[in-house]
Amino acid sequence: MQPIKRWDYAGEGLDEHELPPGPWNLIDQWVADARARQDERGDVPEPEAISVATVGGDGQPHVRTVLMRYLAQDGPGFYTNFGSRKGLDLAANPRIAAALTWPPMYRAIRFTGMAQRLPEQVTTDYFRSRPYGSRIGAWASHQSQPTATRAQLEEAVASYEAKWPDTGSAQGVPLPDFWGGYVVHCDEVEFWAGRSSRLHDRLVYVRTGDGDLADGTSWRIERRQP
Ligand SMILES: Cc1cc2nc3c(=O)[nH]c(=O)nc-3n(C[C@H](O)[C@H](O)[C@H](O)COP(=O)(O)O)c2cc1C
Repeated sequence: MQPIKRWDYAGEGLDEHELPPGPWNLIDQWVADARARQDERGDVPEPEAISVATVGGDGQPHVRTVLMRYLAQDGPGFYTNFGSRKGLDLAANPRIAAALTWPPMYRAIRFTGMAQRLPEQVTTDYFRSRPYGSRIGAWASHQSQPTATRAQLEEAVASYEAKWPDTGSAQGVPLPDFWGGYVVHCDEVEFWAGRSSRLHDRLVYVRTGDGDLADGTSWRIERRQP
């Protein structure tokens, strides 16, 4: 193994007295901060890249990175193929965990809860906002299934391009019925702020009621050891 390189996490930390009663405003602020940091310094590419963990019917965890293309007071969300590994896992067991990690900012947010499918209209609006190639790609890829060659995938792309040529219209490619979004209905939201000597701040919102992320009466805040 290469010699270990260690960084001290000289982050600003996080004080419970700064926290809003529900996690929403801080999620919104930290995501905005990560986007701004990328715009200004370019060291947080894909600030919305989020690791998503699911559990298979056999108890085996699976983790992968997706893009957080949905964020609202009901939770963070993403779009994918319902027949993918993650889609099959979630159909059998909706428990989910997700983490946004921004190492240059010494910050992370962890979400734990249950996945729910986003309403079809929300998915349709998002699908139509995607570039033509991505809309065709959603049809062409039987995500997570084996394929013998890359050429097979490219043939599938060509056949869908022939079926729905690029007319420049957002409606030109229909939404596949096997593709859509999930939102994480959170039971816990943890804000992690890296500090010196690994003595980080971890402040966790734990659900106590049925409200959304902005409802200050539905959460209590707990500090956890780093
Ligand atoms: C930066 C990044 C962004 C990605 N975004 C998505 C996405 O938004 N949706 C998606 O289904 N897969 C996305 N992927 C691919 C997934 O990591 C993964 O390969 C795919 O979803 C299949 O995962 P599964 O077999 O566990 O279901 C992304 C990968 C990376 C590295």
